[in-house]
Amino acid sequence: MKLSVKDLSISFNEKKILDGVNFSVEEGEFVAIIGPSGCGKSTILNILAGVLKADRGSYAVDGQCVTSISSHFAYMPQNDLLMPWMTILDNVTLYGSIHHQHKEAVDRALKEFEVFGLDGYQYAYPHELSGGMRQRAAFLRTALCSADIMLLDEPFGALDVITRNEMQDWLLKLRKELGSTTLLVTHDIDEALYLADRILILSKSPATICEEISLKGVEKSREWLFSQGDLKKDIYDKLKEETA
Ligand SMILES: Nc1ncnc2c1ncn2[C@@H]1O[C@H](COP(=O)(O)OP(=O)(O)OP(=O)(O)O)[C@@H](O)[C@H]1O
Ligand SMILES: [Mg+2]
Repeated sequence: MKLSVKDLSISFNEKKILDGVNFSVEEGEFVAIIGPSGCGKSTILNILAGVLKADRGSYAVDGQCVTSISSHFAYMPQNDLLMPWMTILDNVTLYGSIHHQHKEAVDRALKEFEVFGLDGYQYAYPHELSGGMRQRAAFLRTALCSADIMLLDEPFGALDVITRNEMQDWLLKLRKELGSTTLLVTHDIDEALYLADRILILSKSPATICEEISLKGVEKSREWLFSQGDLKKDIYDKLKEETA
């Protein structure tokens, strides 16, 4: 098992937010976590990324317990921002530069601009890019972290529906090439169905995983997604139950 999470629990100001969250992710698997707003989705990723400490529970990568910030995880937080005074190239190589590997990071990044639909924008500044391009740049920065597990928190949440669909098509194609283990947090049922091998539904807080849906082996397309009315309704009903 690539990632295993056991009994993760946390409270803020004596209010219990996560109460015994358990799940695991296989090597190369793409898992989506979906749940009501404010139930603790970002908190799970913050704990895994080492930004927050759980009150109880543990998590392990490749069977090894992780207790602090770890190079196993590349984290794209919700509302990820590019530095407005830096070029796109400097933004996407930020982590490499921090780790004194600026030249290696630049060499790797330059090879990826075309794949990420950013060719020609290496030396542009964030305000010169569209919203979708800025998200792809933030995504490229995450992908260049050389980590084995990507943590994506609503990566396309701020985009209009057409651009979001384009980004999802792009990610579906790209994920085969990247092949990395991915944990995606979203509140968008279509996004979870379209992108994930498995969907974990979180209950309202204090949150636990209340349902799991496997989509392993399903060949995904927009046509497939449009025909999943019953499954979408089941997930919607479950989320509504949890929000009530
Ligand atoms: N560092 C913190 N300090 C205090 N409270 C926090 C902290 N982080 C999160 N919370 C609280 O924990 C709860 C869950 O927050 P979280 O951001 O994980 O929810 P979410 O499921 O990601 O919500 P959304 O769908 O709106 O992004 C919220 O009530 C939030 O106010
Ligand atoms: Mg969140």
